[in-house]
Amino acid sequence: MDISVVILAAGKGSRMNSELPKVLHQIANNSLLFHVLRVVRQLKLTDITVVASQELSDNHEFKVLQHDLAFKVCLQKERLGTAHALSAALEVAPNKPVLVLNGDTPLLKAKTLQAMIDKFVSSKASIVNLAFKTARPYGYGRLVTDGDKVEKIVEERDASADEKQIKICNAGAYLIASEHITKLLSKIDNNNLAKEYYLTDIIKHASNEGLQAVFTLGSGHEAMGINDKVQLAAAENSMQKRLRSRALKRGVTLIDPNSVFLTHGIKFGKDVVIEPFVVIRRDVEIGNNVRIKSFTHLEGAKIGNTCDIGPFSRIRPKTVINDESKIGNFIEIKSSTLGQGVKASHLSYIGDAVIGNNCNIGAGTIFCNYDGFRKNHTFIGKNTFVGSNTALVAPLHIGEGAIIGAGSVITEDVDTDDLAIARTRQVNYPKRAVELRKTKEGE
Ligand code: UD1
Ligand code: MG
Repeated sequence: MDISVVILAAGKGSRMNSELPKVLHQIANNSLLFHVLRVVRQLKLTDITVVASQELSDNHEFKVLQHDLAFKVCLQKERLGTAHALSAALEVAPNKPVLVLNGDTPLLKAKTLQAMIDKFVSSKASIVNLAFKTARPYGYGRLVTDGDKVEKIVEERDASADEKQIKICNAGAYLIASEHITKLLSKIDNNNLAKEYYLTDIIKHASNEGLQAVFTLGSGHEAMGINDKVQLAAAENSMQKRLRSRALKRGVTLIDPNSVFLTHGIKFGKDVVIEPFVVIRRDVEIGNNVRIKSFTHLEGAKIGNTCDIGPFSRIRPKTVINDESKIGNFIEIKSSTLGQGVKASHLSYIGDAVIGNNCNIGAGTIFCNYDGFRKNHTFIGKNTFVGSNTALVAPLHIGEGAIIGAGSVITEDVDTDDLAIARTRQVNYPKRAVELRKTKEGE
């Protein structure tokens, strides 16, 4: 079915107590708006307009999202309410049904929106509203219903004591037939306690016009709207449960699922084991037979087969770790490619480097990639051994099979199969310690 989607995202989100536009707050490492767009795209709906405030449309993260997910943006210059926001997006009367979604409902599922579309087709109603039942309806609009028909939606602050007892709440999603939408929107006024143009009033006006408005029910959690940090934390919790359960069903072992934090789009191979207290952020791909040990943080990384990562590793964006590599405790890696069978087992920083197959990076090796002005690169050929506590001062080229002595500060290139040592030579003074001790004791 050909449908236009309008996502209302211009609200300030004052209840968040934050300078960041509300829909850019994140759960599972992506903005609330991203999650709504993700679900819409699962339904293969591509005609999408986001109603944005000036602050939102100026935001870098928003621009990246628009670039990646290709949607139209409509500015709502003044925030006069949800009906006003929709009117801004529909300056030209639509010629297909409009699915209106709130930008702060990240837990919605595609199958629930599909059920709305199915109901729209089967009931031939002019409006299908998504609702949910909850024991604690605090803050949500309440549906006054008759069977599966909705007569009106009453916002909590305008509701009577009886209406506040209603447990069927508005999830803020509506599918509206194109024929009546402009007329119905024009009837909405701001005659309420908030002095806002409420989109919810479209139901009352549809009923008054003898048009049919019906509702479908989604589950409580998924229909949740995020207005404050308490709801944001609850939504994170729900989304993580979903992501963990999906990973488990795909065969990933999560030893303690509740302590692992995941992101949409992670690619897992077969026989991946994730130990407790691991965070996996955006753009991560993990091969087969990989163990991610405790307290590891991964982002923008591709990890090959049969690798061991952690405990306490931090793998940052633009990192590729090839098969059979071992990255141990307190290792940070960014913008680097590690060949097959590389070992960096303890306490190192690897940045802007290409490391050949089977290299050993000794404990405490630091790739000094930044000279205060720019990032410089280090290339290390295969089978090279870097001794412990080495500083590799980039730009640097180290040939294959080289050996770097421990404690070196390497500032010049090293040729294939050379041994490089860059530290002062040790001097031993025979029995001088005894003399020193005597002098000290005589003082
Ligand atoms: C809204 C519904 C309420 C429903 C709840 C579900 C109205 C009047 N109320 O309340 O019935 O139970 O969602 O979560 O619609 N926005 C704009 N421009 C504006 C105002 C809001 O774009 O001028 C956007 C917001 O960014 C947000 C969405 O519309 O994404 C909903 O606004 P919000 O203030 O969160 O409404 P609720 O009070 O949650
Ligand atoms: Mg809301």
